[in-house]
Amino acid sequence: MDTSAPIGVFDSGMGGLTVLQAIRKALPQERLLYIADSAHAPYGDKSLEYVQQRAHTLTRFLLEHGAKALVIASNTTTAAAADLLRSTFPVPIIAVEPALKLAVASTKTGVVGVLVTVVTSQSARFAALLERFGQDVNVIIQPAPGLVEQIEAGELISSPTRALVERYVRPLLSAGADTIVLGSTHYPHLRPLISEIAGPEVTLIDTGEAVASQLRRVLEAHELLNKEPVRGSEQFWTSSDTQHAQQIISLLWGTSVDVQQLPGAFL
Ligand code: SIN
Repeated sequence: MDTSAPIGVFDSGMGGLTVLQAIRKALPQERLLYIADSAHAPYGDKSLEYVQQRAHTLTRFLLEHGAKALVIASNTTTAAAADLLRSTFPVPIIAVEPALKLAVASTKTGVVGVLVTVVTSQSARFAALLERFGQDVNVIIQPAPGLVEQIEAGELISSPTRALVERYVRPLLSAGADTIVLGSTHYPHLRPLISEIAGPEVTLIDTGEAVASQLRRVLEAHELLNKEPVRGSEQFWTSSDTQHAQQIISLLWGTSVDVQQLPGAFL
């Protein structure tokens, strides 16, 4: 395949932008396609089958647009559909996962909090991750329904958002957690607020940079890395209202961007 082909990235909405930012930084020459599936957000309280069906549809769209590799920029989708996508589509697929290994290496109190969606918390994949890395520390799993919706609405510092963050983070602090895993790609958008509530002693861990490094390694291994001295670009689609998406994506991406509507067959 042509090394100048784009990389496809998708999420239930705005969360994957935190991963896209890390990819843009690590791989400035690559063309990036991003789908915010906001009409179907949050994935975190849908059924496994629902998330799998959306993941399959969005992957088809990205491959039809020539994607040479795919990044699942949603922890919920990784939990529900990564295996299915890998066994169905013939491109390299990189998937985010809560950074538990890093958190276990970082904690000094031996207590690690993990903020996740309901689907992630109940998935076999997450159970396997806990089994693998969570044996020697006290891991407190905190499902955090409602946070994704606040982020999708662009409410990063409003009173209701603060109240939710307090509700989910305080019990982790009371239990002695000094390290909190941001186990949805949405949650890093709330990093300033979570950090303010948790205090400077608490380390917040997300996966954006690790995923970008993994993507580079995989592209190199498949001889798909674009080595031309060109400047990459981004293209955005949404399954929801384009005007709203344009406003929120521009806010979170840090610059004004165009957002297109996903065609009807992919809604
Ligand atoms: C969601 O749509 O519920 C969040 C996706 C994620 O887990 O990153």
